[in-house]
Amino acid sequence: WVIMVTAQTPTNIAVIKYWGKRDEKLILPVNDSISVTLDPVHLCTTTTVAVSPSFAQDRMWLNGKEISLSGGRYQNCLREIRARACDVEDKERGIKISKKDWEKLHVHIASYNNFPTAAGLASSAAGFACLVFALAKLMNAKEDNSELSAIARQGSGSACRSLFGGFVKWKMGKVEDGSDSLAVQVVDEKHWDDLVIIIAVVSSRQKETSSTTGMRETVETSLLLQHRAKEIVPKRIIQMEEAIKNRDFASFAHLTCADSNQFHAVCLDTCPPIFYMNDTSHRIISCVEKWNRSVGTPQVAYTFDAGPNAVLIAHNRKAAAQLLQKLLFYFPPNSDTELNSYVLGDKSI
Ligand code: DP6
Repeated sequence: WVIMVTAQTPTNIAVIKYWGKRDEKLILPVNDSISVTLDPVHLCTTTTVAVSPSFAQDRMWLNGKEISLSGGRYQNCLREIRARACDVEDKERGIKISKKDWEKLHVHIASYNNFPTAAGLASSAAGFACLVFALAKLMNAKEDNSELSAIARQGSGSACRSLFGGFVKWKMGKVEDGSDSLAVQVVDEKHWDDLVIIIAVVSSRQKETSSTTGMRETVETSLLLQHRAKEIVPKRIIQMEEAIKNRDFASFAHLTCADSNQFHAVCLDTCPPIFYMNDTSHRIISCVEKWNRSVGTPQVAYTFDAGPNAVLIAHNRKAAAQLLQKLLFYFPPNSDTELNSYVLGDKSI
């Protein structure tokens, strides 16, 4: 027999960035972060997990290609969920798995991303969140989504925020074992549903410096990061939560853009410096800044993760339509810029 569970998890985009770990093994961050989870249709991971007494070992396929599960991150997630597994019974098929059977049984995992892996579009976020959620369902673990988020965090930090929809805060926590470093929902997906997210895919190539390596070097060498984590982010988190709760787009846009720019400044302050954005990214920033200033009130916020792709958050559908018109005029797909496509991260306009 085989028992299978399939789950689908969208990626999330940080508006107050996580960058830097205080504990690399447990993946504990140096500051809180806040993100928005995309609609579950675009940019998501679909993962099927299966268990059968005929499986001789744990195995995993990512986008159809087998990958090694020997890395600590996968092992941590598997171990943590197995430790919480409960009895599972399929009466119709006469299958019974007891709590202690899970230690001997092996799982097969098949995961698909509908967007480019490692192009700065946070595929690991959706990936580990989906894996942990699917395994928890398969093994009948009773933990709530916040508790599961602390497990997904051990796969990839940003993954803990994808266990919820809407706006989500990852609380850095204080205790050494990391048990209080988990995600909580700030507001659900209905709270601010006129926002429209457009992702300008500037490059779908694999990034040169992975987030994990990049943040390690930043922690080791950047003084600006220490200032950011201690003095800047705690205040921004409070202001951002206020802006989100009040649907105050002007404050939201100001904080989002400022935090993205400071994150990239911290990357530049790293030795050797890390460049995630390119000329096209910089031109997109100038275009949005100029437009926002000419209108008087911000229409669009931009944010860039560990890659050159722009995540643009428009105030509403009208602003999104105008933005798309501008982008298509200044950055026509397949022109001499690298910009090659636009993905609607949220509702269609
Ligand atoms: C720039 O979560 O990919 O997207 O914890 O080492 O797996 P690891 O890093 P990861 O880093 C994401 C960094 C970011 C900002 C963010 O999502 O908050």
